Amino acid sequence: MITIVVGTNRKNALSATIAEYYQKILAEKNIESQILSLIDLPADFTATALYENNGKNNSFNLFREAFNKHQKFVFIIPEYNNSYPGVLKAFIDGMDYPSGLEGKKCALVGISAGVQGASIALSHFTDVLNYLGMHVLALKVKMGEVHIHLKENQLTHKVYNEMLYAQADQLISF
Ligand SMILES: Cc1cc2nc3c(=O)[nH]c(=O)nc-3n(C[C@H](O)[C@H](O)[C@H](O)COP(=O)(O)O)c2cc1C
Repeated sequence: MITIVVGTNRKNALSATIAEYYQKILAEKNIESQILSLIDLPADFTATALYENNGKNNSFNLFREAFNKHQKFVFIIPEYNNSYPGVLKAFIDGMDYPSGLEGKKCALVGISAGVQGASIALSHFTDVLNYLGMHVLALKVKMGEVHIHLKENQLTHKVYNEMLYAQADQLISF
């Protein structure tokens, strides 16, 4: 089971479209997956699930449990202000400490409206995950101008497709 995390809570986020696309790639390879989207986080989680409230918000705990239970993840990371979304950091800050991510494995996919493909965002997030003991696959997919290359939820960019398929293969055997 691979858990695909949509790294934003923005409505109609293209990150969610890419998560579904990644799920289809995994299905073609007969790999079971599930999508976990930050849009489903309880809206008040920063006030009710962090710090002294750690573990007290049952809706948030469902997310923590999903992380504790599974071993492999894909994070779809949109570029927000040259980094990854703040809600994703707040989410990570609400995880079990010491880390519930220690020893687990993940692959990162970055997307952006501009040309960077969330390159710097992926570096920032890799630093956080490595600090928590999570192993990040070396092959990171960076997809700039993603809105131009998505047509009816299909990714039309040849190289982006090749990179996603190669990454999925590597994650399966990671
Ligand atoms: C708060 C915010 C900040 C953003 N900052 C950047 C940015 O620094 N560089 C960029 O190329 N796109 C930026 N974008 C555009 C996103 O990369 C774009 O919306 C893309 O589709 C991925 O985000 P999404 O999953 O929310 O759709 C930003 C979008 C938001 C909502």
